[in-house]
Amino acid sequence: MKRREFSTFVGVGVGMSILPAALTACDAQTNDNATADSADAASGNSFEEVGNVSQLEETGQILNEELANGKALVIKDPANAEKIIAVNPTCPHAGCAVTWELDQQKFLCPCHDSEFSSDGKVLQGPATEPLTSYEVKLEGDSILVKTT
Ligand code: FES
Repeated sequence: MKRREFSTFVGVGVGMSILPAALTACDAQTNDNATADSADAASGNSFEEVGNVSQLEETGQILNEELANGKALVIKDPANAEKIIAVNPTCPHAGCAVTWELDQQKFLCPCHDSEFSSDGKVLQGPATEPLTSYEVKLEGDSILVKTT
């Protein structure tokens, strides 16, 4: 084997032996990031998208029942058109789903007629606890809520 052929042979061999280690290192880094994202979600530092402002303008409310940590009913604050409110629509009395009644500007429970203000406070029982409110933020047209 000539010197040039030997150098090429050794070079390819070294490259092939380093490649799996390099791929493993990249994979470990990717997994570290995934673990960090999961830790953020588990620690409650994450927001989830429930819909977008255009949709809210069109329908007056957005119900998203597919969030990782529950459901969210999103409305525009009747007292401040710039503000968006998000609550868990599960009635604290016995677990029925409340609806937002725009004409009455309150949440109503169809099961036992509890009523809640736009910010979730009890207006009429039998419920004694307010609706759970969520922190809301906007990213472009997207509405995000923090459910944990
Ligand atoms: S479940 Fe809502 S008032 Fe009873």
